[in-house]
Amino acid sequence: MRYIGSKNLLLDEIDNFLSPHLSGEEKTFLDLFAGTNVVSAFFKKRYSIISNDILYFSFVNAKAIIEGNDELRYDGLLKKGISDPVSFLENESLKYIEENHVGYYEESYSPTGGVMYFTVENAKKIDYMREQLEVWKDEFDISSEEYHYLLATLLSAIPYVSNITGTYGAFLKHWDKRALNPLVLRPLTVEKNFKSNKAYNIDSNELVKEVIADITYIDTPYNSRQYASNYHVLENIARHTKPPLKGKTKIFDWKELRSDYSVKKNAYETMKDLIKNVQSEHVVISYSSDGIIEEDKFVELIKGYSYDKEVKVKKIKYRKYKSKVKSESDELYELLFYFKKSETKTTLKTQKTINTKETWNLAPKFVKSPLNYIGGKYKLLNQLVPLFPNNIKTFVDVFSGGCNVGINIPAKNHIFNDMNVRLNELFEFLHYKNPDDVIALIENRINEFQLTKTNCDGFLRFRDTYNENPNPLDLYVLVSFSYNYQIRFNNNMKFNNPFGRDRSHFSMNMKQNLYNFMTKLNCLNANFSTSFFENLNYFELSENDFVYFDPPYLITIGNYNDGNRGFRNWDEVEEKKLYKIMDILTEQGVRWALSNVLTHKEKENKLLVDFVNANGYNITDLDYNYNNSSYNSKKKGSREVLITNYCTKTFELTS
Ligand SMILES: C[S@@+](CC[C@H](N)C(=O)[O-])C[C@H]1O[C@@H](n2cnc3c(N)ncnc32)[C@H](O)[C@@H]1O
Repeated sequence: MRYIGSKNLLLDEIDNFLSPHLSGEEKTFLDLFAGTNVVSAFFKKRYSIISNDILYFSFVNAKAIIEGNDELRYDGLLKKGISDPVSFLENESLKYIEENHVGYYEESYSPTGGVMYFTVENAKKIDYMREQLEVWKDEFDISSEEYHYLLATLLSAIPYVSNITGTYGAFLKHWDKRALNPLVLRPLTVEKNFKSNKAYNIDSNELVKEVIADITYIDTPYNSRQYASNYHVLENIARHTKPPLKGKTKIFDWKELRSDYSVKKNAYETMKDLIKNVQSEHVVISYSSDGIIEEDKFVELIKGYSYDKEVKVKKIKYRKYKSKVKSESDELYELLFYFKKSETKTTLKTQKTINTKETWNLAPKFVKSPLNYIGGKYKLLNQLVPLFPNNIKTFVDVFSGGCNVGINIPAKNHIFNDMNVRLNELFEFLHYKNPDDVIALIENRINEFQLTKTNCDGFLRFRDTYNENPNPLDLYVLVSFSYNYQIRFNNNMKFNNPFGRDRSHFSMNMKQNLYNFMTKLNCLNANFSTSFFENLNYFELSENDFVYFDPPYLITIGNYNDGNRGFRNWDEVEEKKLYKIMDILTEQGVRWALSNVLTHKEKENKLLVDFVNANGYNITDLDYNYNNSSYNSKKKGSREVLITNYCTKTFELTS
């Protein structure tokens, strides 16, 4: 498509400019202002790509052509007898035209509503196809990859039949020939690199704080033309929220998509903030000699952040010139800047909290709970997982909390039990939902309440809203902005964790965790129950099932162990009830594992030691120092163990 500032014709220039500085070891390429994604697609042959743009239609395209690596099989549609979704959409849209429906896009953008972006027929086609994709998605007939590919196919076909001169700033008052052609879907070119690639749709100034890449390419807008208003029609169709439209150009309220790079008084500071925060060894910036930030000022700015104070500059003459070029200084140039932000990758790794390689480019070995649950076992999984048997039929996670353990143990069925009903509601809500949809809902909520790292009032208002009407989605959003990202309720089950000022927010890291977690959860045959542990039905379990207990620890003081804040007191009575259940399971031939500490500070869990010794159960020591604030046990370590009624090598019952 024709896109203002597209670098389609500059790809080789960028490549040649960058190449001499590279070692050949680089693996990740971050395209922060991806637009049409031509730069991402070009470098995808060589690198894992992270692509980002604030506009959603650009993101949809990136999901399809940048993230995409797999053949799309359309299994769900095949089951319904649809083998070629593109032909199906084409054919059905013709029927739709005959049936004379009038949809939102026809009303908004065609002569039916007094507008001439599209002919009535093409607008009807868009109405039908866009809606049908949503239906397929909602009914789980297509996967997220299939959905994004088909949507990107539709979006990329639209500019070819748009009655405009290049952007949607206005429509023509007469029909351009190409607009009279019927809308046709053409397959997209998806370059496969069999690496992990990722698309984002957030403000790049936020994203750079969260990701590290070997190479970063920066191609911000450089003049006052706003992309959101110039491409509003595509953006609106991509989003498909059908908002009210205003004015002659029929534009939606695009305030939140306004880019500061196109605002004269903000451009320099915004660029400075970006360059300051970018975490990359190599950085290439595209700009124009005609840009809001003057070239000299730009070079000085970069020097301030360049590792060796060097900036390489390349000027490429525009093919178009100002109407009357009087002197050299009147000529327009594309500018390319290169600088080294950091000496080496290693320096970056130690500087930063999130390691991109782990977070984005390699599928994490274990899925992490989206909740920072007190006593969560994520950090122990490396040691725990090999101690569990294979081929489990039903895995029962009796004190499932954040679900860190259960979700990482393969089994035919999973039962997650926790007495905290709110937790279960949340996991049940996440089960079988599309992660992208949930993330979009979360972001809507964040916008609605203007939640930020500093807006305490907004947080408190939102917490009240949640406590009046608790629902799982809001609980997750609330946790995202809470102190230490923790879940905490008072005795009346009112959420009472305070605001996590300057720290907690729905970060990229959280988003990624949530995404990975949901993707995994969607594949499990999981059931959630809210019982006291003693009320679960253990009698139906047999030798291929497995029970994991991660109860409150008798001798440590976690938030959940003092009988308040929505958790039941854990004392010797509870502890003994648990031992009894474990003995019964052993008699039934069911294997179980118990997480606990045998000593903590100066205390010993004598009851547990006696119980284990008396029954000849197995103890495996684990190497883990709790450094969670509520444990305060950094100085005097704990003896963290996994107790099992089987040998952790042969997986045979011990007695
Ligand atoms: C010059 S264009 C990029 C062109 C792109 N390199 C290509 O070849 O197609 C700038 C892009 O930056 C996006 N943008 C503007 N402000 C942004 C921001 N704060 N964060 C992320 N993207 C932004 C615009 O939506 C636009 O697509």
